[in-house]
Amino acid sequence: MKDTSKPSFLGTMNAIVIGERHGFEFLDAWARTTADAGLAACLKTVALREAEHAAAFEKRMCELGFSLQEKDNPAFAKNMDLVTSEIPDVQKFEQLGFDKAGGDGEDRLLQILADQTIDPSTAGLMGRYIAEERDSGRLLRAEYERVKRAEPGQTTPDLAALCAEVEALRQAVEALQGAKKRSKKA
Ligand SMILES: [Fe+2]
Repeated sequence: MKDTSKPSFLGTMNAIVIGERHGFEFLDAWARTTADAGLAACLKTVALREAEHAAAFEKRMCELGFSLQEKDNPAFAKNMDLVTSEIPDVQKFEQLGFDKAGGDGEDRLLQILADQTIDPSTAGLMGRYIAEERDSGRLLRAEYERVKRAEPGQTTPDLAALCAEVEALRQAVEALQGAKKRSKKA
């Protein structure tokens, strides 16, 4: 007989706790590895959010009368090796997939919110979690773009210099047109 006292979303909460806990660990390790102070600050912010999500969901599981089931996460060791390696930060972003927006299981989370049996406390926690994860994604993508622009060999076009060049060309064309008109009259 199906155990109706067990919430349908318990497995997802368990997976969130493990994923967020590992997220904290590897983002924090990356923050301590990078030489870029701006990137370190961003990674620390996102890492602390992950840690808080893990604690909040585990606390909610306990309040509902369930304890965390530890599960292996093969991606964790790979991510730790990557972020603590010597490769450039831009490559770390790209290999982790943080350089572009991704679904990252959000549809599954939204389905949980659509579950009519979910209690208000868990639903509130889930809603805040989804919104913060989206914001963390935006923060990481903005940081990726900044770090990429700052890479050696990447030149940012100087708008003022371009405008000055266009203006000089415009004046040269005007001068040529003026000279042409004068030679026709002569
Ligand atoms: Fe996360």
